[in-house]
Amino acid sequence: MPFYHKLGKIPKVKHTTFYKDDNKSLYREELISSKGFSGIYSNVYHFNLPTAVKSVKELSPVKDTSWPEAPVLYYHFFTDNKKTGGNFINSRNEYLTNPHCKISTAIITEDTEDFYRNALGAEFIFIHHGKGKLLSHFGVLPFSEGDQLVIPRATTYQLKFDDYDNNKIMIIESDTAYEIPKHYKNEYGQMEEHAPYCERDFRPPEYLDPKDEKGEFRIILKANNRLFEHIVPHHPFGVVGWDGYLYPYAFNIKDYHPKVGRIHLPPPVHLLLMTGHFIICNFVPRLFDFYDTAIPAPYFHSNIDSDEVLYYVEGDFMSRKGIKEGSITLHPGGMPHGPQPGKTEESIGAKETKEYALMIDTYNPLKPTINVKETLDKDYAKSWLENGKG
Ligand SMILES: [Fe+2]
Repeated sequence: MPFYHKLGKIPKVKHTTFYKDDNKSLYREELISSKGFSGIYSNVYHFNLPTAVKSVKELSPVKDTSWPEAPVLYYHFFTDNKKTGGNFINSRNEYLTNPHCKISTAIITEDTEDFYRNALGAEFIFIHHGKGKLLSHFGVLPFSEGDQLVIPRATTYQLKFDDYDNNKIMIIESDTAYEIPKHYKNEYGQMEEHAPYCERDFRPPEYLDPKDEKGEFRIILKANNRLFEHIVPHHPFGVVGWDGYLYPYAFNIKDYHPKVGRIHLPPPVHLLLMTGHFIICNFVPRLFDFYDTAIPAPYFHSNIDSDEVLYYVEGDFMSRKGIKEGSITLHPGGMPHGPQPGKTEESIGAKETKEYALMIDTYNPLKPTINVKETLDKDYAKSWLENGKG
């Protein structure tokens, strides 16, 4: 969605006759649009009616993992400790949720022929470990470690991994679309020179693999916590061509160009994407502040109206102790947060950091689930007591 893209065969003029090779039967045009008819859209050309459904059945809902008595507190938990596997649809474990944002991780140990569609949520998927392809009716998008996949709401897709030995992903579901921040774009929609990325850093689907196949294809459709099985009579990727701005795309965290300041710069300089209710930042290796008495570690701060989540990817995180790859910290609004004892002093004079992490700042409070309780670092909430005593 950062730019116009086109794949396969499309008619010269939209909303006109577009015949298959037999010169008799029509391809079926579908406008996939956002914000009614006022947001970005794509026109997609199907072999068959995209509306055909043979049967619909409600499945067991997403497992209730709510933890109503979870206190408002600092949290650190180890998502890698949750070893449950499964396929790319059923392996997800939710950790933090609010009505607009759900943060999950998944260890994917098996393939499936099923298709998946999140009817009510756009999905952001961080590929922590694994390599493979995102398949959808928009085409084939190869991915590897560090990729961040942005999948528009209601996209029918599959994740196919090259193997099933070591695959770990982090998923953020949003009830509003992921968007490039407006201040990164000029009045023509092109990325500004000061943005931390440009168009060539974003990868759209590369090629179409049109499937004109009849049969029984199973789509698992998610609508918040309800799951449905839709059996459709045509292959969901039976698309001969499309064009527009709405499609899944990839951006690798290692392609993010960080900004460096004379003194400590705040998190908005690490901004990657925005939604209506939260933002995502990329923290990547960078030189530290260059003023001679600058303190590279962040100052203590209170984000009075947002919760702050960090997902740790790799490297030594400068302001935290006891963090491992796959750790998540939650610092809720309503409480100050900052470096642990010794970390401020340790950062003075440091020249650079090698850390990779993602930050999610939500405007509504997040609720920890029982998966947080199960994987909790129980000492974290008291880890700011100096010498363990205060
Ligand atoms: Fe913070």
